[in-house]
Amino acid sequence: MTQLTIAIAKGRLQRGTLELLASSGLCDTKEALSSRRLTLEDESGRFRFIFVKPMDVPVYVAHGVADCGVVGRDVLMESQADLLQPLTLGIGRCRIVVAALAERPGNGYGMLRVATKYPRIAAAYFGERGQPVEVIELSGSVELAPVLGLADCIVDLVETGRTLQDNGLTIVEVIAESTARLVVNRASYQLKATAVGALVAALEVTKDEGVQSD
Ligand code: PRP
Repeated sequence: MTQLTIAIAKGRLQRGTLELLASSGLCDTKEALSSRRLTLEDESGRFRFIFVKPMDVPVYVAHGVADCGVVGRDVLMESQADLLQPLTLGIGRCRIVVAALAERPGNGYGMLRVATKYPRIAAAYFGERGQPVEVIELSGSVELAPVLGLADCIVDLVETGRTLQDNGLTIVEVIAESTARLVVNRASYQLKATAVGALVAALEVTKDEGVQSD
């Protein structure tokens, strides 16, 4: 029996990913939904789930420790991992934006200080526009940086817009839309073709059903 290891992004995508996998009918995710274990098998033994930080999903899949992963497009844009992306899933819809204090938007002149968890996305975005930037890399709570004067603006994820609003920031520019993607290790795609194919096919049907019922 072929076992597939699936890397699941902890945090905002975690529950949605497990629910999608359960709806596909391929695996049982009941224990995974309630446990804090970082690795566990489903009842059938055909799937093993590992739970890692979103930015680490491409790392585990690229190294073949996981065959597949579910992660946001934002993370894939930031990552330089060479992965197959056979499927866009309908979960985790959000935007990557440039945001600044409502009363003090960037003036567009001189060096702009940009705080972000996405240094590559930020550098590429401003680089294409010929805007010189100092990218200040943070791990979270990025919205604080302009409020406390650490940066002129941020490049960050917006889902509901609550965090921006509650901290007095507004969207200056939308860089990209992001939803979750199924990613697959190149070797696993060949060596475990039947199992990977079944997963892709089942998720394809399930995510379409999800979109229709939205
Ligand atoms: C993300 C993102 C924003 C927030 C946006 O952070 O970086 O801070 O969510 O969500 P909203 O538009 O629904 O308010 P996350 O919650 O992943 O935590 P972090 O700040 O620790 O990265």
